Amino acid sequence: MNPPTATATSFSAALANATRTAHSGAEHSPFMAALMGKTLPLAGYVDLLVQYLHVYRALEDGAAALADDPVVAPFLSSALNRVPALEADIADLTARPEVSGMTFAPTEAAVRYADRIREVSASSPGRYVAHHYTRYLGDLSGGFAIGRLVGAAYGLSPEDGGRFAIFDAIDDPAAFKNAYRSSLDAAPWSPDQQDEVVAEVLDAYRFNVELFASLDHHGA
Ligand code: HEM
Repeated sequence: MNPPTATATSFSAALANATRTAHSGAEHSPFMAALMGKTLPLAGYVDLLVQYLHVYRALEDGAAALADDPVVAPFLSSALNRVPALEADIADLTARPEVSGMTFAPTEAAVRYADRIREVSASSPGRYVAHHYTRYLGDLSGGFAIGRLVGAAYGLSPEDGGRFAIFDAIDDPAAFKNAYRSSLDAAPWSPDQQDEVVAEVLDAYRFNVELFASLDHHGA
């Protein structure tokens, strides 16, 4: 008799597997490659932060609106909030001579992305979690490596333009991510609802790729 081979895969592992190719597409988008390759002018990085501010305002307004939702609440933590860091970094960096006189505004891609987050915040807790997961777990993963490279490329510090990649209130990111994955596994989603979350994460990656592409004119 063969030993049983069918081990139940946790939802968090299934989600990571189902979105691996999409992650790779976002990671290797031309804009990210330019950022990681330190070839992007400072204006490109400032523009990215301006786009992120538009997106994270939608995420964090959604978190406030859903704070009492029993499905969403376990995922929420004020330690994740990025809007204050983004606002401070943008204020620091737009004061630098390299970008003085330049104006930055959300691109159509960033507006579409944020509009979708606002739409699902009001209609689908699971789909909201999908967007929350895609950005914040990314920030707590590759985000640190990106932060180190960007910090070196543009001379950033925690006091000057370098706050976005710093999570002061999270002592142990690996433990935080494990707890987050446990919340994914404990969420009361039916198989169909889990499929919806996966589909929305795939869409979230697409929104990110489109956002990055909207900034390619900076030299990606
Ligand atoms: C140069 C760009 C990027 C690099 C180098 C990178 C790198 C990584 C690495 C090494 C991990 C695995 C960490 C671990 O297992 O604990 C990871 C996970 C993750 N990344 Fe990225 N990443 C990049 C871009 C992105 C982007 C653009 C997004 C989303 C918009 C993203 C979202 C995620 C998510 C959600 C996870 C967690 C997957 C899971 O365990 O469920 N990443 N990334």
